[in-house]
Amino acid sequence: MKFFVDTAEIDEIKDLASTGLLDGVTTNPSLIAKSGRNFKDVILQICDLVDGPVSAEVASTDYDTMRKEAKEIATWAENITVKVPLTEAGLKVCKELSDSGTMVNVTLCFSAAQALLAAKAGATFISPFVGRLDDISHDGLQLISDIVRIYANYPDFHTEVLVASVRNPLHIIDSAKMGAHVMTAPPKVIKQLYNHPLTDKGLAAFVEDWKATGQSIL
Ligand code: E4P
Repeated sequence: MKFFVDTAEIDEIKDLASTGLLDGVTTNPSLIAKSGRNFKDVILQICDLVDGPVSAEVASTDYDTMRKEAKEIATWAENITVKVPLTEAGLKVCKELSDSGTMVNVTLCFSAAQALLAAKAGATFISPFVGRLDDISHDGLQLISDIVRIYANYPDFHTEVLVASVRNPLHIIDSAKMGAHVMTAPPKVIKQLYNHPLTDKGLAAFVEDWKATGQSIL
């Protein structure tokens, strides 16, 4: 499973990139707004820091303007992934960009039917929002399972399932069991993956016992 981080904060990206475990970055207009920075400046900086795909989202919803924005964003860097919403206009733009070799992430996916359309439009990634479905008492992980299963029936689909709106480590583990290709999560959730109380307890005991030996490795 590829790990993307869902943030526009450079320090957070630097920190995670230094682990060697980061495969890409996703952003959205809300995360850009939260950063308080210029959209293009932040995206260029992220594209420089990370080799993998960096998702940058269009802002307009009408087809003509969205198409122009998408084509502009596509020129920003080699590893740019243009993010478009799952609407009729978004999928039209997706098809055109995908056909011309640009990576496209189709976002705001909440149904298997939408995911099927995105694959037909040649999306590089489909982003189903697990947490936001859970928030309204729908089963977000069931959607991941359905999409993975549907895509597996059609070897000519090359769209990767990018689990988005991840709120906790279980979202990641269960999606990995289902065979989802990618997940994107806030840094806090990625950090939680390291933790286990028995690791902390075991390590504390090892440190104490080692101290008692009076030895030093270096
Ligand atoms: C994905 O690309 C989105 O930016 C993100 O996962 C949305 O997550 P949220 O529901 O926590 O805002």
